[in-house]
Amino acid sequence: MTRVYNFGSGPAMLPAPVLDRITADLPEFGGSGMSVMELGHRSPGFGQVAAGAEGRLRSVLGIPDGYRVLFLPGGASLQFAAVPLNLASPAQTADHVVTGHWSRRAADEAARFCRVQVAADTGPDHSTVPEPGEWLRTADAAYVAYAVNETIHGVEFPFVPDVGEVPLVADMSSTLLSRPLDLDRFGVVYAGAQKNLGIAGLTVVIVRDDLIGRSGRPVPAVIDWGEMARTGSMLNTPPTFAWYVAGLVLDWVADEGGLPVMEERSRRRKDLLYDAIDASDLYANTVEPAFRSWTNVPFTMSDPALEARFAEEAAAAGLVNLAGHRSVGGLRASLYNAMPIEGVETLVSFMGDFERLLAP
Ligand SMILES: Cc1ncc(COP(=O)(O)O)c(C=O)c1O
Repeated sequence: MTRVYNFGSGPAMLPAPVLDRITADLPEFGGSGMSVMELGHRSPGFGQVAAGAEGRLRSVLGIPDGYRVLFLPGGASLQFAAVPLNLASPAQTADHVVTGHWSRRAADEAARFCRVQVAADTGPDHSTVPEPGEWLRTADAAYVAYAVNETIHGVEFPFVPDVGEVPLVADMSSTLLSRPLDLDRFGVVYAGAQKNLGIAGLTVVIVRDDLIGRSGRPVPAVIDWGEMARTGSMLNTPPTFAWYVAGLVLDWVADEGGLPVMEERSRRRKDLLYDAIDASDLYANTVEPAFRSWTNVPFTMSDPALEARFAEEAAAAGLVNLAGHRSVGGLRASLYNAMPIEGVETLVSFMGDFERLLAP
């Protein structure tokens, strides 16, 4: 069996030791006589898995007391609706900062459930982060929402915006666990698991206690943070296998040295790739350097007709899923925690060979 370097944006690569552990556990988990997939979610065995994952997440991220951790189904997109439903009445205004595809989707979804003020919009190019001092803020906003990292446009906030007393809501789907985080600054953080936290089907929501029940309106029970906190995220059947994998990924992050080590590796990976792009005449990344994503690196070629050939030849060389998102085209390399530095080195070397072969 040959494993490839998977540069997909999610579902994404898993760390090899996590795959080994899943393989070993698969026929029979912890003396139960069955796999994790077959374990009842209310069984003592799964209870340990669930509590273990939450404990690891709390210790790895340094989640302060006073925050609830929820393990929810539905993907990050479901939280685009859950956020306004849990935090705002229909008449209240939420401020949304739009820096790319995903924060636009969040703003559009929120507008179905409350008033939305687009505090800033960097479209259509989405190649920068707007200066917070210039955001059009609503005086009594229910919350301020943004996407820390735009997975498609490759734009990342290198700072946490100061929004005063208003709850700050952050979509961290493609950046959670890539570096240390000061959670005190946030009211709500959520992330789909299929990037840095395991596999699809699970979304982690971290919510400050005082925000639970804030909207005072009816919320579908499975996305009511209060109901889900009260039931330990087990109001209904949770995505048990994804929850189990998240626990293994968190164990791996802790064993590797935690978020400072993840940050250092992220820095090395993205420096290697951006340096190669910037040094070349063939490849380009148009995001303002200060706001370039550490995790999702979109790039184009001076002759766009070559991009499909590049992706195809790269795949043949074991570097897969390099095509850009269908909405923007181009190419994109996603560099999550599980991507070894050797994967980026191999990509950079392939890019150099490709460029040299084109030289007249
Ligand atoms: C930043 C960001 N937010 C939200 C989503 C949507 O996530 P899901 O597909 O889990 O609903 C994605 C998906 O790639 C994403 O990258």
